[in-house]
Amino acid sequence: TFARSFSATAVRNKVNNVTVIGAGLMGSGIAQVSANAKLNVVLVDSNEGALKKAHSSIESSIKRVAKKLHADDAKAQEKLVAETIGKINTSTNVGDSVKNADLVIEAIVENIEIKRKLFAQVEEAARKDTLITTNTSSLRLEDIGKNLKDKTRFGGLHFFNPVPVMKLLEVVRHTETSDKTFNELVDYGKSVGKITVACKDTPGFIVNRLLVPYMFEALRLHERGDASMKDIDIAMKLGAGYPMGPFELGDYVGLDTCKFIMDGWHKQYPDEPAFSPSPLLNKLVDAGKTGRKSGEGFYKY
Ligand code: 3HC
Repeated sequence: TFARSFSATAVRNKVNNVTVIGAGLMGSGIAQVSANAKLNVVLVDSNEGALKKAHSSIESSIKRVAKKLHADDAKAQEKLVAETIGKINTSTNVGDSVKNADLVIEAIVENIEIKRKLFAQVEEAARKDTLITTNTSSLRLEDIGKNLKDKTRFGGLHFFNPVPVMKLLEVVRHTETSDKTFNELVDYGKSVGKITVACKDTPGFIVNRLLVPYMFEALRLHERGDASMKDIDIAMKLGAGYPMGPFELGDYVGLDTCKFIMDGWHKQYPDEPAFSPSPLLNKLVDAGKTGRKSGEGFYKY
């Protein structure tokens, strides 16, 4: 009991225990890079099936990383895979899994009500000094954290897909995020090997604010009949050095996600032309063609 009460009040220097809530694509990637940096990770999802799926996707991704790092050394590859997987525990219980966390990262569905409920549960069960963050790509931190009693320890950690490969982490502060919280989030980002940039709580932060309207501009160019999707993709890859063209990227990220982000912004800022919806995208999403994950989006897979 003494040890437990001592550790609960001790001053924390560094994030060691990370709880990631939501075992989808982003949550799995965040768990993986945290475990790879030797942090203790608990990956939480209400759905056992999602946790199983996350386990196998983390395993295949860490194998790719290991192959790259230790090209001619099968033993070293196996060791890295085993060590990383060994750092990740899974749970279906939010309360239990955040009790010992230094940092909680939420990566669940982009639904404000569900997120608010989750954060109430997290704040109730976590220590007073636990950093509480969201990986939201499109919602305002101000709205998500509205009911938190202590907003100074709340901020945003926005990762990019595929998390193990993309080097950037956007660290987002809203009006009440403390300097201490912000600095600790930056330190966490560095500890998992990311380059961090500082963002305010504005739509899309930096990357999505530029990238999503660019994708919709490509859609409009195509909808006007000015160029084919294939030619636009070729042009942006070979003429601007992007690794994927805007349509390939849309299929990769998920057309439902792109639509969701833009619809939210359009509702909030109806007069902003950069945020206007695309009929073609709406049609594809309505037909269940959401990109690579469904086998068809702009392209067939
Ligand atoms: N896990 C581990 N490693 C992976 C991986 C994964 N999931 N995916 C790719 N890699 C590694 C591969 O092992 C490979 O390593 P190597 O070069 O040493 O062999 C390297 O990454 C390149 O992979 P590939 O050869 O398979 O394919 P590409 O060269 O085409 O690269 C890509 C794939 C990295 C996805 C590249 O196409 C790219 O950067 N695309 C743009 C991605 C992007 O813009 N992401 C941001 C989207 S926006 C977002 O996420 C925000 C959200 O809020 C919506």
